Amino acid sequence: MELPIMLLTLILIIGMLIQTVDAQPIENKIIINADLGKHQISKHIYGHFSEHLGTCIYGGYWVGENSAIPNTRGIRNDVVQALRDMGIPNLRWPGGCFADTYHWMDGIGPRDKRPAIVNVHWGGVTEDNSFGTHEFMDLCDQLNCEPVICGNVGSGTVQEMANWIEYLTSDAQSPMTNLRKQNGRELPWKVKYWGIGNESWGCGGSMTAEYYSNQLRQYATFCRNYGDNRIFKIACGPHDDNYHWTEVIMSEWQKSVSWQRGYMNGLSLHYYTVCHDWSKKGSATEFNEAEWFLTLSKTLRMDEFITKHSVIMDKYDPEKRIAIVVDEWGNWHDVEPGTNPGFLYQQNTLRDALVAAVNFDIFNKHCDRVKMANIAQTINVLQSMILTKGSEMVLTPSYYVFKMYKVHHDATNLPIEIFCENYTHENNSIPAVSASASKDKNGLIHITLSNSNPNQNLTVICELRGMKKAEFKRGQIITGEKMNSFNDFGKPEQVTIKNFAGAKFKDQVLTINLPAKSVVMVEL
Ligand code: AHR
Repeated sequence: MELPIMLLTLILIIGMLIQTVDAQPIENKIIINADLGKHQISKHIYGHFSEHLGTCIYGGYWVGENSAIPNTRGIRNDVVQALRDMGIPNLRWPGGCFADTYHWMDGIGPRDKRPAIVNVHWGGVTEDNSFGTHEFMDLCDQLNCEPVICGNVGSGTVQEMANWIEYLTSDAQSPMTNLRKQNGRELPWKVKYWGIGNESWGCGGSMTAEYYSNQLRQYATFCRNYGDNRIFKIACGPHDDNYHWTEVIMSEWQKSVSWQRGYMNGLSLHYYTVCHDWSKKGSATEFNEAEWFLTLSKTLRMDEFITKHSVIMDKYDPEKRIAIVVDEWGNWHDVEPGTNPGFLYQQNTLRDALVAAVNFDIFNKHCDRVKMANIAQTINVLQSMILTKGSEMVLTPSYYVFKMYKVHHDATNLPIEIFCENYTHENNSIPAVSASASKDKNGLIHITLSNSNPNQNLTVICELRGMKKAEFKRGQIITGEKMNSFNDFGKPEQVTIKNFAGAKFKDQVLTINLPAKSVVMVEL
């Protein structure tokens, strides 16, 4: 054979060999470093957000004391029980955009004397203020969760915000404390988490980062600690990739003298997953595989945003004293046909469940910086846990993911490495597997995984490093017959938590059969 032909033949053989290697199925493998856990996954990552918007508060929680729907002091019993079962750790209120129009004194005192106002952001409906401060604090007591209150910077005053904190938390002789007592609450409440405005770059006042930074310092200075109550101040942070906002807020914080730096403990981040674009977001239930894929690929951007905002924060705060608080996130679809466009009511399918799982894995991974997150919104609005219709209640696929991931609350995050195949659709690819792992206070290890591919089951090998012996204790799975399976009023549940037995151990290697379009939890 002549030299060029020999060379060509050689190249062809090498090419064929490479192709053969390429064609080997990729092994899906997760390495879990069981002895390298350093950071706690705050249970507050699994937090919630409820605004005076549509039927979230009115109809969702609040039905009034005279309602035929079973309630305790006006708050629905079925909803409280469901959220307690889910392990709700905190609740952010009263907004959202509503927060920067809310004057808290409208919502105290005898209900028949409270003024009716217009809810300018959400449908222009009448807000009769029957659900106010006392009702919200009662709700948190009934839910056994921590209140997260967002104060009004946009249209309020420093004095108004300072008074609200005094009214809630002070036991000293003062006009605000006396007013609270007159309104039936003798003892102060404990309120730790306090937002200094919401989306101040937008509906909260259209401020520049530079202007807001000064507002923040001023408002926060008057957020006083009464008795042993300690306020954790959450500054309005950026949305999506607005890195300039983070840069300004953080650099100004670093420039301030050290004894003043307590004016901020957390910086919020908002990111909503929108399948198409804001003008035509896409239906919550009527979607095809391209839209399933697009939604999952867009939600993965949460990792990019947290990573990049964290890099900026690390520059000014390497000790990670300021937390990221993702206090609004979730899927934002078109409203259900025939419903008020200002009420943001959407159904919730298996796609939403996958989105919740993927985001939780991202938050868990970043738990050294992300200390709280609040999904928008708990009931009847955006990516809800619960939908209500009169006295009926539906638990959504997202609800079940929150319930399943309860095992991670306050557990130690275990660093993991994921090697997996891609889920490819129309020439675009995302990793098919998302996962996280943690060790709880009893030494139990929990692995949560999801398979974004709606067409293919996967076999995932989990290698456990840094532990001597383990056994499979129990498993749970959330899946559905179709990508858009959902739970509806008056019908048997299509998506719920079921027992999962598709995991087995051999020689310290755990093999998990992860069905297509599923979320799985394994306890070891
Ligand atoms: O969650 C709905 C709205 O989205 C909130 O009121 C606002 O903060 C965000 O733009």
